[in-house]
Amino acid sequence: MSNLGEPLPHDLLDDGERLTRDQLRELQLDRLRATLRHAYDHVELYRKKFDEAGVTPDDCRALEDLARFPFTTKADLRDTYPFGMFAVPMDQVRRVHASSGTTGRPTVVGYTENDLSMWSDVVARSIRAAGGRPGHKVHISYGYGLFTGGLGAHYGAERAGCTVIPASGGMTARQVQIIQDFRPEIIMVTPSYMLTLLDEFEKQGVDPRGTSLKVGIFGAEPWTEEMRREIEERTAIHAVDIYGLSEVIGPGVAQECVETKDGLHVWEDHFYPEVVDPVTHEIMAEGEEGEIVFTSLTKEALPIIRYRTRDLTRLLPGTARPAFRRMRKVTGRCDDMIILRGVNVFPTQIEEIVLRTPAVAPHFQIQLTRRGRMDHMTVRVEARPDAGPEQRRAAAGAIAQGVKDGVGVSVDVEIVEPETLERSLGKLKRVKDLRQE
Ligand code: DLL
Repeated sequence: MSNLGEPLPHDLLDDGERLTRDQLRELQLDRLRATLRHAYDHVELYRKKFDEAGVTPDDCRALEDLARFPFTTKADLRDTYPFGMFAVPMDQVRRVHASSGTTGRPTVVGYTENDLSMWSDVVARSIRAAGGRPGHKVHISYGYGLFTGGLGAHYGAERAGCTVIPASGGMTARQVQIIQDFRPEIIMVTPSYMLTLLDEFEKQGVDPRGTSLKVGIFGAEPWTEEMRREIEERTAIHAVDIYGLSEVIGPGVAQECVETKDGLHVWEDHFYPEVVDPVTHEIMAEGEEGEIVFTSLTKEALPIIRYRTRDLTRLLPGTARPAFRRMRKVTGRCDDMIILRGVNVFPTQIEEIVLRTPAVAPHFQIQLTRRGRMDHMTVRVEARPDAGPEQRRAAAGAIAQGVKDGVGVSVDVEIVEPETLERSLGKLKRVKDLRQE
């Protein structure tokens, strides 16, 4: 295994990673101008939106000028379902993926040969940043299929020179067997499904600290520093964060470096980030929290201009890869935010509190109900198998107090029996909203 505490050796950096910040900004401007032109010339929706906003691609003379261009939203992709935003003829589209979304039609995304190659490059770069090297075995438990997780990780790992174990999601007992038999160094999976796998290890009487795994590359859903600690303690692996979304490419938009674990470097030679106020749309200064917005810089089939991700984070200067800015771990999505009696609550805030409470397992669910005219939140948390009645009572009190002190709302806490809450097989749904039922 590579020395995980050390910076990546210079000869393992790719061309993009060797750019200085100034060189990178120059490249970004060239690529941005070409992308705006490509989008305007080949996608009716972009032409219409730019015209309405009174801008043309030639108005972009500096990176800051991007702020004059209109945003793109999931609704734009839905309205042009399935292929209306593709900027190349269909015979140049080699693959499509789709993200399910909770309401209505899925959003469909497409890739040319070059797009697929760029995607493999950025995922390979992410795997190297996580500590992966040629010859490592990578167990992929992201779902394969229309979801970008499985195939995105797959081709990136191959590009990185690794051996892929394409496990996909589900059949948890068999996955645990395969990990023991095939001895992968790396696992790529959602953090919530990693917990499901860990429980299965323990159920089979296998100590997860004794496996061959050294690194876990976790993403596709928000997770906290407390979850990192929980996973690292139970497994002896390094847990690092990978971020991405289908509309921008899939996994591999940004990646945490294993030697610093201090947020995710955005692969800015391909994806240009801005952080905006989700309400006023004003651009936020570096370090301030808001919604991250991405513009693709090299994509052919689906150029994406100022895509509103709904993900909340902040931009910070680069560290392990100085030319690339970092984004803080995503704390949640604007649309995951629960407004409880006027207070904004994110499931990740509850996660932090549950995970630092003794006697409970890291499995919880948030239930929203209505009592009279008031919204009410119940946090249902599983007890650890060895927790007695007294410890359970204390845990419930500690969580309720923690939420009151830390978040500012009163909630009920229900400690449930071990193994009674639904387990994740991929992306986890934390919140059960019973208010309309
Ligand atoms: O989840 C792509 C992906 C696959 C990323 C595997 C990482 C690993 P979508 O299904 O389009 O794509 O969902 C994108 O998932 O807008 C975020 O809200 C959330 N998300 C993805 N990665 C992270 C992360 C894939 N590391 C949506 N932290 C995004 C927090 C994440 N949220």
